[in-house]
Amino acid sequence: MTVISSPGDFRIAAQSRLPRFLFDYADGGAGSEATMRANVEDLARVGLCQRVMCDVADIDLSADLMGVQRPLPIALAPIGIAGMYRRRAEVQAARAATSAGIPFTLSTVGLCSLTEVRAGTAGPLWFQLYVIRDRGFMSDLIETAKEQGAEALVFTVDMPVPGSRHRDAHSGMSGPYAPLRRAMQAVGHPGWAWDVGVRGRPHRLGNLTPVLGEASGMDDYIGWLAANFDPSIAWKDIGWIRAAWKGPLIIKGILDPEDARAALDAGADAIVVSNHGGRQLDGASSTARALPAISDAVGGRLSILADSGIRSGTDVIRMLALGADGVLLGRAWLYAVAAGGEAGVAALIGLIEREMRVTMALTGVRSIGEIDRSILLDG
Ligand code: FNR
Repeated sequence: MTVISSPGDFRIAAQSRLPRFLFDYADGGAGSEATMRANVEDLARVGLCQRVMCDVADIDLSADLMGVQRPLPIALAPIGIAGMYRRRAEVQAARAATSAGIPFTLSTVGLCSLTEVRAGTAGPLWFQLYVIRDRGFMSDLIETAKEQGAEALVFTVDMPVPGSRHRDAHSGMSGPYAPLRRAMQAVGHPGWAWDVGVRGRPHRLGNLTPVLGEASGMDDYIGWLAANFDPSIAWKDIGWIRAAWKGPLIIKGILDPEDARAALDAGADAIVVSNHGGRQLDGASSTARALPAISDAVGGRLSILADSGIRSGTDVIRMLALGADGVLLGRAWLYAVAAGGEAGVAALIGLIEREMRVTMALTGVRSIGEIDRSILLDG
């Protein structure tokens, strides 16, 4: 049994529970995985000033995220096929997020549909949209998001084409005899096979069933991504999305100040400074390095969220100090849900919250609004 005392322990617990093709799909990145590693390493190197005698008896973690006061400046990031990691994992994670009062973002390519997640929880729900060729279907999805009461649309722009993820061919996620290799791995992980393989059906991409039909299972997943993502996407395309979606629009996948300005000009309410967890352009900057310049360029004019590499509550404080208004947790929640379902995600959020409190106390700040570059060693 893995003892869970820090968010990183969920990764170890998830690794022993999951078949290799799923663990590697989550744990891997693009190319040599240099950017994926840099996300974690650069963030860990962001030094913090130890301050003392600041009366930190009362610490307030609440924050304004795009005009809504939340108990924490955190949302759960969109993760495709999360439902393969734990039975109906999108619903389980959304419930844990609801209990903590933070938004859950449902991916276009989640297993659970918008309707299923909404039936499972009444909490704050964001919907993530990918740029797919069939614009009529995108409009339908936006309508469904409205009907199901999604509070924000997260439009992911850093995947005009899927990144080069070499681990997938080796793991059985794709490549020769993939279904057979996956089945053999499942046999070696009976806990997962029973929970997800048997009881976690259907293994369809719930939001895409209208276009993919009943066959929208794991076998189509990588092929569907490659065939249907629209590489012709450009800033002008935001126009019709902005027209179709009047609520808060979050553009996810910004890593450059010029692109941040373009997102602002296109009418975004927020951006996510993100390199997709190092899964797209290997060699791209870590988000910790990219964030300060983006904050200087557009901070105060739209909300800045950040993700990629956040593995602890201290990392959350680091991102806020570098200029983010809030953060998204990616792999952190995926490992937690894989390891422990809804209770795992609830425990993860609790651990992150406690670490944030400790880090704030030891850097001498009492509220999220007080966190800025002054708490950075090199600030
Ligand atoms: C992702 N991410 C992602 N992003 C998105 O906009 N739509 C999606 O469907 C997915 N799917 C997805 C699957 C898996 C397995 C991973 C690990 C990531 C990216 C995700 O939202 C987020 O940007 C990164 O996970 C953040 O990096 P860390 O925190 O995981 O390092």
